[in-house]
Amino acid sequence: MYGGIMERLDKFLTNAGVATRSQIKAILKTGRVQVDGKAVKDGSVKIDPEKQTVTLDGDMIGGKRRMVVMLNKPAGFVTSTDDPRDKTVMELLPKEYAHQDLKPVGRLDKATEGLLLFTNDGDLLHRLISPKKEVPKIYYAKHEGTAGESDVEAFAAGLTLRDGTVCLSAKLEPMGPGESLITVCEGKYHQVRRMMASRQMTVLYLERRSEGGLELGALERGKCRELTETEIQILETQAE
Ligand code: URA
Repeated sequence: MYGGIMERLDKFLTNAGVATRSQIKAILKTGRVQVDGKAVKDGSVKIDPEKQTVTLDGDMIGGKRRMVVMLNKPAGFVTSTDDPRDKTVMELLPKEYAHQDLKPVGRLDKATEGLLLFTNDGDLLHRLISPKKEVPKIYYAKHEGTAGESDVEAFAAGLTLRDGTVCLSAKLEPMGPGESLITVCEGKYHQVRRMMASRQMTVLYLERRSEGGLELGALERGKCRELTETEIQILETQAE
């Protein structure tokens, strides 16, 4: 699934039409070519164009590969690219993704666990988080109280939160005392916690299990994996 065929750097640059082979040798010597942010002067170095980013004077050669990564987020990490106090979700991504310019798709609270996507495709990212695209996100919640029929109806009708914020129609599926599944198509601040609180069901634990038709599956907590092209197409369809 991950990683392509290894190729000599000089051959990759020649094929990309950067310059002739002999010119490339001279260019390489000057240190203007970088692989994953480090100058490489030796054209015989093998690179994986699928996985690595090659630049000449800072400009990308061959274009950046579109990547979407799924993380099973543990509690205790903030969804931010940078934070002065807390550990961020970026710290959970493997080092080899460091130069892929991945950004979290929306956010999960520090205490929330589960499915968090990252991508370097800004257009896909914005479509996935736009409430207009109605991409469904399914959460499992443990909460105070027990959800009943009137709560299900209130969620379906579109809740008004305590501060007056009006939510889009959402699905509440009671699973028994103190447990529910909640499907929402938007991502307001602390949305699920606030929706449940507005019905006197304080959330005690929250996990996102699905987004845009994709599920965590067997992905372990704290681990991530790259989505396949087929899975990316599923997201594309959801966010059309
Ligand atoms: N809703 C919340 O309240 N928190 C999350 O992390 C995600 C959705």
